[in-house]
Parts: sequence; structure tokens; C-alpha cells
Amino acid sequence: MLFTSYPLRNLTLKNRIVMSPMCMYACADESGRVNDWHRIHYPSRAVGQVGLIIVEATAVTAQGRISANDLGIWSDEHVAGLRELTALVHGQGTHIGIQIAHAGRKATVDGPIVAPSAIAFDEKSRTPEAMTLEQIEETIAAFGAAARRAKEAGFDVVEIHAAHGYLINEFLSPLTNKRDDAYGGDRARNFRFLSEVVRAVQAEWDGPLFVRISASDYHPEGMTPSDYVEYARLLKEQGVDLIDVSSGALVPVPPKVYPGYQVPFSEQLRREAGIATGAVGLITEAEQAEEILQSGRADLIFLGRALLRDPYWPRTAAKRLGVQLEPPKSYTRAW
Ligand SMILES: Cc1cc2nc3c(=O)[nH]c(=O)nc-3n(C[C@H](O)[C@H](O)[C@H](O)COP(=O)(O)O)c2cc1C
Repeated sequence: MLFTSYPLRNLTLKNRIVMSPMCMYACADESGRVNDWHRIHYPSRAVGQVGLIIVEATAVTAQGRISANDLGIWSDEHVAGLRELTALVHGQGTHIGIQIAHAGRKATVDGPIVAPSAIAFDEKSRTPEAMTLEQIEETIAAFGAAARRAKEAGFDVVEIHAAHGYLINEFLSPLTNKRDDAYGGDRARNFRFLSEVVRAVQAEWDGPLFVRISASDYHPEGMTPSDYVEYARLLKEQGVDLIDVSSGALVPVPPKVYPGYQVPFSEQLRREAGIATGAVGLITEAEQAEEILQSGRADLIFLGRALLRDPYWPRTAAKRLGVQLEPPKSYTRAW
């Protein structure tokens, strides 16, 4: 199944292998613009026959960057560079998406940082300002503007980053959302910010839409995979195509990790919410990926570090599974 195509609204992915979004922190000039590193890094994985590449967390506002070296999509000036990236990847027959993100209280840039509530991540982190209703509205609009720019830049997929303790995740969890207004106080109100971000994105973007979540906070008072089943159902109703199922990083509790440690969360959401999912996290072997798909535990396999080590991981996997993978024409004699 790993090398079978996957239909996604108006497009068909050539296989189920997805490059997971990974920050490169490579914008040394702090402009948020695409540079040579991105022009080499992403197309290399397209040459390696990945089915879908998701560009790293890309900031929807300058204050929403994790670091000053993040990629940005907060200005129309970012579109030209991103368009170069999509053209390079499309030229090698691979689809390309972008993860749009706001770091919330985990931003480390100069100036004020914001979150649903004024609670720092840990004792070493700065305390964020609790967002005003006006700031919330502006930030939702920034996600919408980012989706418009993603469309102008030629992306095939938009992924909303609602995981890993960044801004949207901070609204979703009762550990970080202590508001008592329209945007916090109970399950429905904690979900409202994400729901409005989805709507703002959809006003500009009619292509495939993914949402990445942290299915567990690994904390007794935090969110659990079962809590996310309910949210996944709501996201499906809103027209989200796939949940990319990660976990953790909302609060400083390191999870116990082992091969496929997040796959059970993907399996539960897929089964109980009836939505397509992507599995991610210490998936490194072809047989492991194949088992996840064959057992109906996910629809797509997201690979992070394995693809940093081996841009040609799909070729390695095809060999293991006895699949004939078409080489890039110029590499035929080596494949
Ligand atoms: C260098 C690096 C940067 C990352 N940046 C992001 C990111 O921008 N957005 C995101 O959702 N996850 C990010 N992650 C998490 C990965 O997408 C992935 O979920 C995680 O590494 C687990 O998968 P793996 O075991 O295949 O690497 C990053 C991981 C790494 C190693």
C-alpha cells in the first residue's frame, strides 16, 4: 500500500509517503524568505520520490515565529520565493504542501509574545500576554491571508499547525487556556479559535486541508486522544480532509518514545471519528509503514528524521517491499 496512489480532492498523490514538516531555521537574514537551503533541501526529497512534501512551520505573523530564522508567509513579499519552491518540487513530479503556524507562547523573537492566557511554558520561558479579542481576530485573519498566499504560491495542500504547544494548541488545551470568554472555558469554547482559523483558511483555500494535532498532552489534566476524537469529528464536519496525528510538547513533559509511539492515536481517531489520518513519529522502516497502512491505522505515512538522513528513503523502502519504483530518468543507471 505504501506505493499506491492516494486521492485527495482535486489531486492524486503518487504514493503514501509524506515528508513531515520540519523547521530548518535556515533564514539567516531573519527575512522569512526562501533561500538556497530550501531550494536544495525540499526538491532533493522530490527527486527521492516522496509523494507529498510539507514545508516546515511557516509563520503567519512575524511575532508568531518560533525563532527569527523561521520561514514566513506573513507578507506578500514571501510569495515569490515560495512559488519558486513549489515549481521546483512540481518539476520533479511531487506534490507540495505548507504548514502554516503561529508559535504563541513558544515564540522566541524579540517583542511581546502572545497566548490565550498569561502562563509561561516553563521557568526559563517568557510569560506571554493573554490575547485580546482584537488580537484573536487579527491572528485568525493572518491565517486566512497565509492561505491566500499559499494558493498564490502554487501549493497543493495547506496544513494548519494545531500541535506541539504552539498557539492553536494552547487554545485547545485546558492546561494553557484559562480564559472565560468566547475563546475558552469549556470544550466548545476552547475549540472556537481553531474552528475560526479553519473557516478563515477555507475562505481563501478550496484545496486539501490538513490539521496537525497533539493527541495527548501526557498530563493528568490535559487532553487525551479520546478528547480529540470529538474535535476530529467537528473538523471533519467543517471540511478538513485529514488529521496529522502527533502528540505532546504543550507542557514540558517528555513522552516515552518508541517505534510508532503515536500510531495508536492515529488509529483511534481514524476509527472513531471516521476521518483520514496521517501517522507520524519514529516510523523508519518500510515494513513498519506498510503494516500501519495495511492494518488501517492511517492513510498516509509522515516521515521526519528518516527523510533527513536519507532523501531517497522511498527507494530504500521500495527495495525492501519488492516494489519497482520508477527512477528519476537521469538516475536510471544507478537505481
Ligand atoms: C528538525 C526538526 C524540525 C521539526 N519541525 C517541525 C515543524 O516545523 N512542524 C511540525 O509540526 N513538526 C516539526 N517537527 C516534528 C516532525 O514533523 C515529526 O513529527 C517528528 O520528528 C517525529 O517524526 P520522526 O520520528 O519521523 O522524525 C520537527 C522535527 C525535527 C526533527
